[in-house]
Order: sequence, then structure tokens, then C-alpha cells
Amino acid sequence: MRTQVAIIGAGPAGLLLARLLENAGIDVLVLERRAPDYVLGRIRAGVLEQGTVDLVEQAGVAARMRAEGLPHEGIELQFDGDPLRIDLRQRSGGKQVLVYGQTELTRDLMQARAEAGTASVYEAEDVTLADFDTAHPRVTYRHGGATHAVECDFIAGCDGFHGVARASVPARAIELFERVYPFGWLGVMADVPPVRDELIYAHHARGFALCSMRSRTRVRCYVQCPLDTDIADWSDARFWDELRSRLDPSVAEAMRTGPSIEKSVAPLRSFVAEPLRFGRLFLAGDAAHIVPPTGAKGLNLAASDVRYLAEALVGHYRDKSDAGLDGYSARALARIWKAERFSWWMTKLLHSFPEDGAFDRRVQRAEFDYLAGSAAAQTALAENYVGLPV
Ligand code: APR
Ligand code: PHB
Repeated sequence: MRTQVAIIGAGPAGLLLARLLENAGIDVLVLERRAPDYVLGRIRAGVLEQGTVDLVEQAGVAARMRAEGLPHEGIELQFDGDPLRIDLRQRSGGKQVLVYGQTELTRDLMQARAEAGTASVYEAEDVTLADFDTAHPRVTYRHGGATHAVECDFIAGCDGFHGVARASVPARAIELFERVYPFGWLGVMADVPPVRDELIYAHHARGFALCSMRSRTRVRCYVQCPLDTDIADWSDARFWDELRSRLDPSVAEAMRTGPSIEKSVAPLRSFVAEPLRFGRLFLAGDAAHIVPPTGAKGLNLAASDVRYLAEALVGHYRDKSDAGLDGYSARALARIWKAERFSWWMTKLLHSFPEDGAFDRRVQRAEFDYLAGSAAAQTALAENYVGLPV
């Protein structure tokens, strides 16, 4: 079997890249380890920067996002109950974000590929990369009881943090940067109306809390929790009580609660691999980097990686130029590290760190007070949250 670009992973990064390349007439093969329902079952943040919205439009899969996405012009921070609204639109010079679940975007991409007859190979087992340091990279995988070999020009590693692509790079050729946070997020999805029209990010001595949403009738809320948290210990009632205890009392009182339709614990990590190119293998999305979800940057960084990589591959095939491929890693990493910094800063501002002492907690409060009193500080937060230029 032969293709031009073998894409490992059918999450948002892999499917968006596949769509952009196919729209440019480039032949791709997508290999996904899991079944479609498993991929769609992963609950992830859904705050889209304008650059991501533009890319989804460019990919031609924006109809439902346009119809169902919720434009948000601001977010509310709370620090020990003190509210501070950040006017994203005013502070960013007119930009905003769109709330649209990542699962829905993945579903739209899957449907578009199926309708175009460019199916992905799901439940592809033992995907193995070979010879990506030559001009003739290869991928093998097992499917339907048989082993398949794929000859290709390029391999895109879009297989997430635990994927095989980055793991296939020799240790001497890659440098990893990581910070693991000493807590996780306990998340609940419920079919109740959001307590506010905008997201609420709250710092509290008991821990961080976030009130987000998927629609006007479905909320996604989180509380910071210990890493060893067992969701079996968390009834719905306990979760809602804990969430409300961390919010401004007027918000807590107004909050509607209901039975959870999903409940899970996620660890928080900052991670970057350098470089992102190894011969004919390119990493994009979570395979290349991880951010704590506080800044809602994961999907948006995957989108900017994919934008750069798609432009580079189209340049190779259409313009016979490898300038984009040669510049991909540096271009993507420049934006990745700025998003890593912002996500780390927002996580430090809003979470309770077990190792922090009284001095650290005073500095956190001072950071919030400075933000509350400074247009410049709010502009800095807003321009990062809505997305730095791609
Ligand atoms: N072979 C084939 N597929 C694999 C392999 C493998 N060895 N390992 C992982 N995969 C698949 C996973 O099953 C998953 O569907 O690769 C896909 C990677 O998707 P994501 O983890 O969603 O990563 P990405 O597409 O980069 O999207 C980044 O999604 O995970 C969130 O928070 C993240 O919002 C960010 C966005
Ligand atoms: C979510 O809706 O799941 C969400 C929103 C914003 C974040 C993180 C998660 O920063």
C-alpha cells in the first residue's frame, strides 16, 4: 500500500490535518488505534480561538460549529470570592472565543471524512514507524487479523501524549521539557443550564474550580483534587457541594445542579518535545506538547501545529519547496512555548499548591489584585486567552 502522508492518530490534530491535505489533493492514510466511539468518548475542553475557528472553516467542516458554537466575549475570574470580569473583546481589540466541544469538532471531522469516502483505519493495532530518517519512510500495522505495510513520503505523528510516534524517535535526537502538577481536575458533565453565560475560573483556599459549558443546557464543571482521587468517593451531591463552596456565594446559590452524565479525573502536566521534526516524521498536537487545561490551549495549539504542517506539506507537493517543512519545528515551537507560559501562569494564579507557604499565597493574591487594577495586565491575559497570532 502507498500514500503520500501517513497520519498516526484520528483525534482533532490527525483528522484536521487529513482534511486540509485532502482538500489540497494530497493522498493521506489515517491510522487510529481505537474505535470511533472510544475517540468520541474522550471529554476535552472546547474553547476555540479565532485562529482555530478559521482553520475549521478552511477545512470545510464549520457548519455545525457556526450553528451551535457559543461566542464568548469575556470570562470571570474569582479569587476567594472576589469577582473580576475580563472583557476579552475590549482588551484584545475586538477578538473573542467560541465555546464548542472538542468532541463535537471531532465528530464533524469524522463525518466529513466518511462522507468524502476517505475513511480512517480504526482499531489499527501495533502501528510501527520505520525509516523516517530516509526518503522512504514506512508504517506497518495490524488490522482485521492481517499485517499491512504502508510506503509513504511523510509521517505525521498526531497520536497524542501516549502515542507511538514520539516514542519511535531515538532518545539522543529529542529533548523533553516537563512539569507535572501536584494535583488533578475532577470533572463533571451535567444537563443543567450554566449558572452564568460566561466561564468562571475560581481560586479558593480549598482549591481551584471552573464552571464551563457545552451548550445553554449542558455544563462542564471542575474542582481541583488530589492526584489519587477516586471518583467512586465522589457522589454527585459531594461534587456540587464542593464546587459551590469554592465560588462566590451569590453564584453558588444560583447554581442549578443535576445528575452527572460523565465524571472523571485528569492529571495536569506541562510538556514540550524538541524538535518536532525527525527526517520525514513530524509531530503535531498532544504528541508534541501538553498544557494544563487552565488556559484552554490544548486543542488550539494542535490546530496551529496542523495549520503550519499542512501549509508546509502543500508547499512541498504543490510548490516543490521544502521551506515550510524545514521551518515547521521552529515556527510551531515559538507559538507552543508562549501558550505553555500562559497556561502555566494561569495555573499558578488560580490553583492551591500544596507546597506553597504563606509568602507564595500572598504573592498569588497580589497577582490577582494587580490584574484587577491594571488594564495592561488584563490586556496581556486577554490577548493570550483569545489566542496569540498564528
Ligand atoms: N497508533 C494509532 N493511534 C494512536 C496510537 C497508536 N500507537 N496512540 C494513540 N493513538 C490515537 C489516540 O487513540 C487518539 O485518538 O491518537 C489520537 C490522539 O488524539 P488526542 O490525544 O486527542 O491528541 P490530538 O489529536 O493532538 O488533540 C489534541 O485533544 O487530547 C486533547 O487536550 C488535548 O485538546 C487537545 C487535543
Ligand atoms: C471545558 O469546557 O472543558 C474547559 C473550558 C475551559 C478550560 C478548561 C476546560 O480552561
